Amino acid sequence: MKFKTIKKTKLQKSLTNLPDYGKTYGNFSWTQIEKELAKESGNILNAAYIAIDKHRNTDKKNKIALYYESDNGSKEQYTFTQISELSNQFANLLIKTGVQRGERVFLFLPRIPELFVAFLGILKTGAIAGTLFSAFQEKALLDRLENSEAKILVTDSILYPRVQKILRSLPHLKKIIIVERNAKALPKGEKIIYFAKEMVKMDKEFKIRYMQKNDPAFMLYTSGTTGKPKGVIHKHFAILQQYITAKWVLDLKENDVYWCTADPGWVTGIAYEILGTWANGASTVVFDGRFDPSRWYKIIQDYKVTVWYTAPTAIRMLMAAPDVVKKFDLSPLRHLASVGEPLNPEAVIWSLKAFGLPFHDTWWQTETGAMCIVNIASMDIKPGSMGRPFPGVIADIVDDKGRILPVKKEGNIALRPGFPSLMKSIWRRPQKYRSYFINGWYISGDRGWKDKDGYFWFLSRADDVIKTGGERVGPFEVESVLVEHPGVIEAGVIGKPDALRGEIIKAFVVLKQGVKPSEKLKNELSLYVKKHLAGHAYPREVEFIDKLPKTRSGKIMRRVLKAKELGLPVGDTSTLEEY
Ligand code: WT7
Repeated sequence: MKFKTIKKTKLQKSLTNLPDYGKTYGNFSWTQIEKELAKESGNILNAAYIAIDKHRNTDKKNKIALYYESDNGSKEQYTFTQISELSNQFANLLIKTGVQRGERVFLFLPRIPELFVAFLGILKTGAIAGTLFSAFQEKALLDRLENSEAKILVTDSILYPRVQKILRSLPHLKKIIIVERNAKALPKGEKIIYFAKEMVKMDKEFKIRYMQKNDPAFMLYTSGTTGKPKGVIHKHFAILQQYITAKWVLDLKENDVYWCTADPGWVTGIAYEILGTWANGASTVVFDGRFDPSRWYKIIQDYKVTVWYTAPTAIRMLMAAPDVVKKFDLSPLRHLASVGEPLNPEAVIWSLKAFGLPFHDTWWQTETGAMCIVNIASMDIKPGSMGRPFPGVIADIVDDKGRILPVKKEGNIALRPGFPSLMKSIWRRPQKYRSYFINGWYISGDRGWKDKDGYFWFLSRADDVIKTGGERVGPFEVESVLVEHPGVIEAGVIGKPDALRGEIIKAFVVLKQGVKPSEKLKNELSLYVKKHLAGHAYPREVEFIDKLPKTRSGKIMRRVLKAKELGLPVGDTSTLEEY
């Protein structure tokens, strides 16, 4: 089915920050944006200063930066000055515990204010902040904390037991800071100190460390096809792109109340819930609760949210509850954007009906650090397309040798390095980092095509990475946990297309001799992954098979599993040993 382009009216165009996309694209220069931001920030380069502290010198100092609401409905709010002071206190606490520039401080917390304060505090000291999604279990935690050699971990009493299980394998971890919020009983231990108890002793002023453009600010682990998750390192200077994309794509203005539904355990939550959006001085709503259509609409209604950034799976879940939207006054909403997985055209058409506004798709990755291919607020939308490269980002479709392909031809979605937010490195994996680049292009791992108007269309991943509910999962991580189950010899894991979640995780499992296949065992295996790896990364479907398709060198051919699952031709099997 063909979907009509959604034309922006002249009026809508004049309301946006970017008056004329076409014209500005031609004149765009990163140096110009850099000058603008440097002026606003008194030439101080530290992402935490640019996001928060700089507002203390302006009339935003008493503006609300953070509206926090917990799952049980308790509310708190913090001004820019308060966030600045609290993060100063946290920075002082880190210095007191001996943290130095470049050392890793990790956060394993739900979406509570302390997470935001601590993240900024880490950046202020020049240390590297790492975030861990709160659904992670001990196996996922161990890989990340071990590889990063994190020195300090901030967590709470509810999540701490998962850390306790792996403490003995983490010799580099010197201190664990426990946030007391919601604690029934506080854990004790020789490495443990308590957040609030220490914070009150700390000075509210801190001499922020000045950083160089290339200095690392934060790291995020992300999954590829093979091996353990890799630590993607981002620099302080990435905030330049986070800032200007938040301004032009999210269209943030003086009086906006902005809600991003992502978790800072992922890059969206860092770039567009902390850094880029606060750098624009927007008031940000943080809801630390589960998905529920009524509750979500109530958040928009109660806080009079004007700009909303969310993900396709959530949008599709809202579409599945069509009557709920009518019960709320969502009239303050004025701009919607989406990220994380393909935004199906039906979702854009639905949002036009439900909110009178289309969702604007944005494409980027953990590795790119900020939006790259976008629908700027003023652009006409082609439903189903991810939009066009952001000004200053050169994107194209290239073949496997890095040669540009013509319009309409399928190939690799690639970016020219040189935009400020592209990752600086992969932590201790220089070769892995280099493997992203071919013929002067950064190869994203996504496949797609471009049309004659320069709009990009997503087709699929080029590798076996799974996107479930917008979250990125490496099949190898899931397989590694499955084979630890006593009944399992081997496992092959794929993403199976799913109308709601984009993909679900499906595991093909070879059982040990004598182990009886049963429905009960399937559930047990799902649960096993949920309990040991992560609450979001478990197989919703398990199938027992006799043998996995493998190459002669013993690699699992997941694409063969996938083709069989979908009833598609298996393609070239010449390297297969057996299938
Ligand atoms: C992968 C990156 C970007 C922040 C959150 C995800 C997929 C992302 C889109 C989109 C189709 C998309 C790609 C990409 N993806 N945005 N608009 N349309 N696919 O970051 O977890 O590193 O995942 O998400 O496959 O490579 P991430």
